[in-house]
Amino acid sequence: MKIFVDTANLQDIEEALRRGFVEGVTTNPSLLAKEPKSNFEKHIGKIVDLIKEHRDGAHLSVEVFSSEPKEILKQAKKFKKIFNYSALSIKIQVGWDELEAIHMLSKEGISVNCTACMSVMQGIMASRAGARYISFFWGRIRDGASDVKFLAQRNECLKKQVLNDEDFNPYLVVNRARRMLNQDNLGTEIIAGSIRGVTDIRDAGLAGAHIVTVPPKFFKDMVSHFKTEEVVQQFLSDFKKWLR
Ligand code: E4P
Repeated sequence: MKIFVDTANLQDIEEALRRGFVEGVTTNPSLLAKEPKSNFEKHIGKIVDLIKEHRDGAHLSVEVFSSEPKEILKQAKKFKKIFNYSALSIKIQVGWDELEAIHMLSKEGISVNCTACMSVMQGIMASRAGARYISFFWGRIRDGASDVKFLAQRNECLKKQVLNDEDFNPYLVVNRARRMLNQDNLGTEIIAGSIRGVTDIRDAGLAGAHIVTVPPKFFKDMVSHFKTEEVVQQFLSDFKKWLR
């Protein structure tokens, strides 16, 4: 399981890259909107510079900010040109119209990270269209089971047998998508995003996600444990006594 960092914050990106456990960076329009207002191209350019400085060749996903296929294609090609980074993937949301853009870009050799996938079928459709990565939103998949705002839509999907109750279990969604990708021997990799805690990271990896993209606020918890603190203090204390 590879770990990516899910942020547009330059300091958090550098802190993670310097420690070597991060092999990619994913951004999205909402993550960028959390940063001090600046020029989009310049901000992404600074992320590219950090990656080149600390881990050249690491993955970078930059998301388009349109739902109109022609505009998506225009933005994707512009990003590829202006950021000029070999491991850049263009993040495009999954959807019927978007599949054509995904397919066209993939045929031109542009790596696509098809994002906002919530079901197995969305991921498989994107993969068959040529997406290099499919990003499943672990937390939002789970939210879909109980989010009262979408009660009508959920019941419609269940009634039409588009989904069933198991499709709101992110572990099953990721695990089933992985099994289907393996059956088809497709090169597409699964990224699990929309992470809500450290156990989601563990479970996404165990479910078969090739990559989990992690908000930086979870990194310290991932590497800490109260029993580790205990034994380290004990070792230091015992050794100091022995030295006296
Ligand atoms: C992945 O990169 C996604 O854009 C991100 O993890 C979504 O997280 P959210 O569901 O908390 O917005």
